[in-house]
Amino acid sequence: MKAVQVREGIYWVGAIDWNIRNFHGYETPNGTTYNAYLILDEKVTLIDTVKAPFTEEMIERIESVISLDKIDVIISNHVEMDHSGGLPVMMEKCPKAEIITSMPSGIKGLTAHYGHEERYTAVKTGDSISLGKRSLVFTGTPMLHWPDNMVTYCPEEMILFSNDAFGQHVATSERFVSQVDLQYVIENAKSYYANIIMCYGKQANGAEKIVETLDLEMIAPSHGLIWTKEYQEILKAYAKWSGEVPTSGAVVVYDSMWHSTEKMAMAVADGFKQAGVEVHVFDLKAEHYSKIMPYVLDSKYVAVGSPTLNNNMLPNVAAFLCYLKGLSPKERSYVAFGSYGWGGQSIGHVAAELDACGFTKAIEDVKIQYIPSKEQLEKLEADIAAMAK
Ligand code: FEO
Repeated sequence: MKAVQVREGIYWVGAIDWNIRNFHGYETPNGTTYNAYLILDEKVTLIDTVKAPFTEEMIERIESVISLDKIDVIISNHVEMDHSGGLPVMMEKCPKAEIITSMPSGIKGLTAHYGHEERYTAVKTGDSISLGKRSLVFTGTPMLHWPDNMVTYCPEEMILFSNDAFGQHVATSERFVSQVDLQYVIENAKSYYANIIMCYGKQANGAEKIVETLDLEMIAPSHGLIWTKEYQEILKAYAKWSGEVPTSGAVVVYDSMWHSTEKMAMAVADGFKQAGVEVHVFDLKAEHYSKIMPYVLDSKYVAVGSPTLNNNMLPNVAAFLCYLKGLSPKERSYVAFGSYGWGGQSIGHVAAELDACGFTKAIEDVKIQYIPSKEQLEKLEADIAAMAK
């Protein structure tokens, strides 16, 4: 396997994971890449490594350009193991390499994962190193997406090595956004944002501001394709996703036992349609919760329905709400609904979870015993329409 030249003297030496389909709960139907970058200068530098099982692939790509013992510096922009998994092998094979990470969380994180505290050099925002012809400047981007994250900027090349920020979970044989369909990349970047970065919107907005101050020609993330001439597109998209609260749009998410809650879900959707609100409906038996998150990102309203099973909501709904709460989109309005036979506790439990998300109740919770009548469904639709108008 060969390195791919990104610029003269700069190579992509990462790995392509064609087969990963679940990234800690986030379904990744298009696989991903773990991007590492090699800079040939007076000091030969490797930026990030790859997930451990892909270390040999990275080494093969590096060795297609230069032997491992020539590496002088390894930058660890992020401790999470999809980027640092190859580090123990690299520490062994490059015993003299200086390993640079962030202060204090990078040091703590790498030491906790791999030991060898003595091998790490800590940097903070604004610190820089000279590689010879080029330099690298470090900026902390904590919580994008762990406390240790930092980005590395090369002013002479106008390249930002952005690690998790601006990435996409996409496996392709191409390395640049310009070689594939832009819309496809943006959609995957949006799904990545919604499932990984959304809860750190404030931090993403901060990173945005840092990036705006840089002279750029390229953003080289640690997942997916590299942004070149179209990099403004991803900056614009991040500004929107991290900076704007949606003023319209609705998602209706439900699970159903005997179609009663499903009928209610359709009435809720029809109410939104009647009010001119774009609505997307998801049956959790048919769709994985992570696929729904990009729609939540775009929606003001989140309506969640569950019948009552054994005094509680259905497990699919509980999983969705757990995931949603973790990602904590802000300033949404909610509707909790569902059918029941006798207890009817599920609707209150759903509402409590949506309250815990910090959402505002849009209408009183709606619970209907056994089978919703035509009149009940019409009333539900009318109530939603009146509220959303
Ligand atoms: Fe791609 Fe937070 O690791």
